[in-house]
Amino acid sequence: MNWTRHHLLDIESLNAEEIQLVLSTARAFKAVGERAIKKVPALRGKTVVNLFVEPSTRTRTSFELAAIRLSADVINFSTEASSFKKGETLRDTARNLEALNADVIIIRHSSAGAPHFLARFLRASVINAGDGAHEHPTQALLDAFTILEKKGRIAGLNVTILGDILYSRVARSDIWALTKLGAKVTLCGPPTLVPRVFEAMGCRVTHNLEEAIADADIINLLRIQHERQRKTMFPSLHEYTSLYGLNRARLAQTKPDVVLMHPGPINRGVEIDSETADGERSVILEQVTNGLAVRMAVLFLINGGQSPEETAAV
Ligand code: CP
Repeated sequence: MNWTRHHLLDIESLNAEEIQLVLSTARAFKAVGERAIKKVPALRGKTVVNLFVEPSTRTRTSFELAAIRLSADVINFSTEASSFKKGETLRDTARNLEALNADVIIIRHSSAGAPHFLARFLRASVINAGDGAHEHPTQALLDAFTILEKKGRIAGLNVTILGDILYSRVARSDIWALTKLGAKVTLCGPPTLVPRVFEAMGCRVTHNLEEAIADADIINLLRIQHERQRKTMFPSLHEYTSLYGLNRARLAQTKPDVVLMHPGPINRGVEIDSETADGERSVILEQVTNGLAVRMAVLFLINGGQSPEETAAV
């Protein structure tokens, strides 16, 4: 199949074939990243803008490196040093960046729907790098890529997402991606952070950690999203950790080949202890590495690249 989308705004609107195309294209770009010369000319002459209105380490740097590896010109927009501080609107900011001939605007914003808003009036392609608690599509794509790499398949796997589901854009995008690809997704955490309404997305919901991890092939841990919570959702971090934190004793209750994932940043000693986060079952840093290949694939496809075979030849 060919990629036909001008924007990447969410996973919800993608079908399984489109997700598979990104994953197979990313596989080709991961091979490119293992060559002596890692740079390809695919986006020569294109301009990519990183418009991050919320903090980021992994997503911003990997999008920047992905664009550089594809030979694009890259502008990293700094909110702190911009005319946002003088009251300029998001719409005006984006239109001014487009007036500099931006071909792609990658946006992270605390408001759900900000990328969809920009896509309504920009000619440039818009990529959602995380919008509020709504979606984080490239995180879900790199998570799916990592699972496929580790397990050889996604269909039929038991994937447990553990932690703050309610406020997590990663959880929503992962649920869409993994269920479309045939995984069985279980959500677990305190009832206030994992309401049963998520069952409507095709997931199993449990508040019992032992039940959630026993049959899991993958456990994806999420941090508590304090920045989005408007009220206290559980009595204390200590209580959260004692009920839902992953540690050596709990890891012993899982399958011996379970894979532990985390999108980062980790709150060490809260959702996972350091020994487990850095242990042999953890693929957390491999997720970061795979994020580069996945973001190269997304930039390539959005700019008219068509097939993994074409990718291998660039
Ligand atoms: N996973 C993720 O989005 O990390 P950053 O916030 O550092 O980009």
